[in-house]
Amino acid sequence: MHVSQPGPTFDVHLDPEWARGALIDDVRRGLGRRPLRLPPRWLYDERGSALFDRITRLDEYYPTEAERSILEREADRIAAITGADTIIELGSGTSDKTHTLLGAFDATGRLQRFVPFDVSEPFLRDAADALNERYPNLHVHGVVGDFTLHVPHLPTDGTPMVAFLGSTIGNLYVEERRAFLAMLGDHLPSGAWLLLGVDLVKPVDRLVAAYDDPHGVTAEFTRNALVVLNRELGADFDVEAFDHIALWDPLHERMDLRLRANGEHHVRVPGAELDLELADGEEIRIEISTKFRIPSITAEVEAAGFRTRQVWTDDRGDVALLLSSVG
Ligand SMILES: C[S@@+](CC[C@H](N)C(=O)[O-])C[C@H]1O[C@@H](n2cnc3c(N)ncnc32)[C@H](O)[C@@H]1O
Repeated sequence: MHVSQPGPTFDVHLDPEWARGALIDDVRRGLGRRPLRLPPRWLYDERGSALFDRITRLDEYYPTEAERSILEREADRIAAITGADTIIELGSGTSDKTHTLLGAFDATGRLQRFVPFDVSEPFLRDAADALNERYPNLHVHGVVGDFTLHVPHLPTDGTPMVAFLGSTIGNLYVEERRAFLAMLGDHLPSGAWLLLGVDLVKPVDRLVAAYDDPHGVTAEFTRNALVVLNRELGADFDVEAFDHIALWDPLHERMDLRLRANGEHHVRVPGAELDLELADGEEIRIEISTKFRIPSITAEVEAAGFRTRQVWTDDRGDVALLLSSVG
């Protein structure tokens, strides 16, 4: 029986003190030695999350609509196969595409709880409020956390399905991806499910167009990493003097998003007690987006203890959804 819920509830695993310490560590580690790199989790402050939302609506950025088309086609089947009563969405952002899933699961009468999980607290709270209004019988329980660390805090009672959409898994380096999948496989009980969305390898021109749009939205998104450092750590990056670069790395089959210094820069990052000399043309890696092949990602998921039951692609074969069970 569904009980009407008064409002969303929240767990916050990222307190501001801890987050600041983690940012300082990441900056010291990432910018204190070559090659320079920053982990992507700091891209998603309020402005970064809003910019990512704009990216998903660009014509060049095919993954969102391609994944949505699979969800629209298969949501009823996913609900029937899994019989899940809890959906946990990692890296949920606006949870925009998830409405399709929630609608289908809600119609089964079994769905009791939705757990959106994201590092970006303001976006998570807005999304949870909107979902609570739209599905008044559903317990919406938001979790503010880092999915590379806080998976062991996910609820495991009932029959949970973890949705990890938008090929966010492609933003992890291979060793991080393996560790993440292993942690998820260890934590979830037998009978739990994983719905994983991945972007597939495709011709380079389409990939580069998706990550280097002519409107400059993706460039603003990557430059936002420097805006965050200026604001949070008092850094003095001349943000507009960095060019957004989107490269295809054929060896690792991933897009590699970087910022390239235009001219020489002396940058102070007082909050991390760091001084940085950048040569003209020197690059900082901001994000990777690995593209997958179905057999190898299936093998990775299975190595983490899952059994893949279904794989769907969109009509054009751009992206895939894997539905796997624990055990
Ligand atoms: C590529 S977006 C995908 C958003 C949405 N799931 C979609 O399919 O369009 C990545 C999302 O993951 C969140 N995120 C990034 N790194 C994270 C981390 N380490 N832990 C939790 N959330 C993270 C971001 O805030 C953002 O909402």
